Amino acid sequence: MADRSEESASEATGPETPAPASYRIETRAIVAGRGQNGTSLVAPLWPSSTFETPTVAESLRLATSLRPTAFYSRYGNPTVRAFEEAVAELEGAESAQAFASGMGAISSVVLALCSQGDHVVAQRQLYSSTSLLFEGICPRFGIEVTSVDATDAEALVAAVIPGRTVLVFVETPANPGMQLVDLDVLGSITGPLRVVDSTFAGPLVQRPLEHGCDLVLHSATKGLAGHNDATLGVIAGPEDLVGWIWNYHTVHGAVASPYDAHNALRGLRTLPVRVRQQAETAQRVADFLEGHPAVLQVRYPGLDSHPQRSLAQRQMAHGGSMLSFDLVGGWEAGRCFVEAVSLAHLATSLGGPETLVTHPASTTAANLTPEERAAMGIGDGLVRLSVGLEHPDDVLADIGAALGRVAQGHQD
Ligand SMILES: Cc1ncc(COP(=O)(O)O)c(C=O)c1O
Repeated sequence: MADRSEESASEATGPETPAPASYRIETRAIVAGRGQNGTSLVAPLWPSSTFETPTVAESLRLATSLRPTAFYSRYGNPTVRAFEEAVAELEGAESAQAFASGMGAISSVVLALCSQGDHVVAQRQLYSSTSLLFEGICPRFGIEVTSVDATDAEALVAAVIPGRTVLVFVETPANPGMQLVDLDVLGSITGPLRVVDSTFAGPLVQRPLEHGCDLVLHSATKGLAGHNDATLGVIAGPEDLVGWIWNYHTVHGAVASPYDAHNALRGLRTLPVRVRQQAETAQRVADFLEGHPAVLQVRYPGLDSHPQRSLAQRQMAHGGSMLSFDLVGGWEAGRCFVEAVSLAHLATSLGGPETLVTHPASTTAANLTPEERAAMGIGDGLVRLSVGLEHPDDVLADIGAALGRVAQGHQD
């Protein structure tokens, strides 16, 4: 593979006109990602897979430059670039790179940065497909992975092998158990690259790069795009690191679609208001669940009962829009609840306008053994809730009614 990462960065990303430093993040969400607009107020949709070049010299320049935006869409695309510029702006990063999905981003990062014989430290509590990558696929390529309970920050540090560990990968809050990782401790680790999957929080809630981490990534399918109409991933970090990963990504090919990037960029404009409203409702739901007799435990960083509440207060602006809870009655109670809701939908994914419920033991974690599920904190009665944008009273009424059905099931 030709390494283009050292070459001219003239095509590299970055807002053409940086937003004034005084702008708050809400304003940045509006002004960001306009570098490709021309006179259009809205980012134009460039569906083209290829672009004309006037001369051979220009083709050669584009073919050998870093991250060209208008050469061939596997290398880059103006609509996708607009989304990338907006994410970089929101994360306070030099650069961002979009991918075909969150897993496209994660696989590309890991395989771009790790080679045979390398060592990776990965959090034990991870989204199931990310776990599969580390546990099932990395070993096939001779990449050794140590998985640790990263809620114990010191265990994370202790697992690093100086000179061999190239990557430390965490997800915070973790899907679906809502465990947190101390970003200051992660950022203080020297040697390996420190990568944070921040999908459950997003840039309005936590800012991993400000804690010294190297890369933040998202399944932008979720809150960033925010409308369940795009499948997309994105990473943000320093330009040279993003450029290196881009170089690998052109071969890996998990390329973002301009249609999805267009939808996601529109979603980003309203991210601050969506997140604020969803978090407000989530806090009310969490408070309500905590007092309910059908509920064993609520896992929400905005609750005082969260085992890492002080960490949440240190690194998160608020509890966010995701929560999970364990029902009295195990699998049957979980099944009953997710089938009983009527306003909320039983559907995987998160971060959209509709409140979604899932039963991880029968979906995302279905392929794990009970022991593996237990190690990740996924009980049979665990329900995950992605709080939407419906009126909070309607969401509460729906959840209350479904819990009533669960309690009734205990009596039947
Ligand atoms: C925390 C987290 N990371 C990554 C992913 C993968 O994202 P995608 O489905 O866009 O590939 C998911 C999907 O649910 C997730 O929850």
